[in-house]
Amino acid sequence: MNTLKPLVILTLALAASVSSTTAQQPKGGKPPISFTAATLPKDDAEKKILAVLADINANQRRGSMSVPEQDGRILRVLTEAIGAKHVVEIGTSVGYSGIWFCLALRSTGGKVTTFDIDPGRSAKARENFKRAGVDAMVTMVFGDAHDTVKQLKEPIDLLFLDADKEGYLDYLNKLLPLVRPGGLVVAHNMDQRMADPRYVKAITSNPALETLFINMETSGIGVSLKKR
Ligand SMILES: C[S@@+](CC[C@H](N)C(=O)[O-])C[C@H]1O[C@@H](n2cnc3c(N)ncnc32)[C@H](O)[C@@H]1O
Repeated sequence: MNTLKPLVILTLALAASVSSTTAQQPKGGKPPISFTAATLPKDDAEKKILAVLADINANQRRGSMSVPEQDGRILRVLTEAIGAKHVVEIGTSVGYSGIWFCLALRSTGGKVTTFDIDPGRSAKARENFKRAGVDAMVTMVFGDAHDTVKQLKEPIDLLFLDADKEGYLDYLNKLLPLVRPGGLVVAHNMDQRMADPRYVKAITSNPALETLFINMETSGIGVSLKKR
């Protein structure tokens, strides 16, 4: 697993540098330099999953608060790069980010445990996991995650926080002990408007964590490595 560490650092550095590149206006009034790359399915199963993701994006985005596609791709890359076997997601909604995790977990042989409090969105998520063919990799836990996360006992490779923003600190306090050394805590909506300053302080003042903020010109993602 040690050999994966440089890969993760490279991935994060690339994400950070691409976002700063796209934000810069080169001299001479030329348009900003930016490169884009679409996700190319490597097999039929991946094609089917990407089609479901595209459908959710097109038809279920309203009221779902799902992450943007670019952020879903970042989640997939991080998960696959660290060889995650167990992802914990707080905030399932209709399953969009969960399916991005599953794209990675197909390759790592892993699984995702995902938590939500809303019955309507949870029912939609269940349907979406099924039609993407990833339901066997997913455990859904219904209820207030501040209570239900207490049932978690297994080590976590990647913890994704994307529910009530003022609850991030409580989730971190409860679940960081389960995150394995070399694992990641990824927090969505780290923009100044939405981020809870108490959470930002916790992840930037703990010497056991190496924290980066990426995609700050859009939704903002905090990525904290739990050092080995
Ligand atoms: C931003 S959405 C999650 C989006 C999802 N991660 C995605 O990108 O597809 C936040 C979700 O957190 C859920 N939520 C809010 N507070 C919660 C709590 N205390 N316990 C569990 N889920 C909660 C909401 O019901 C909502 O579905």
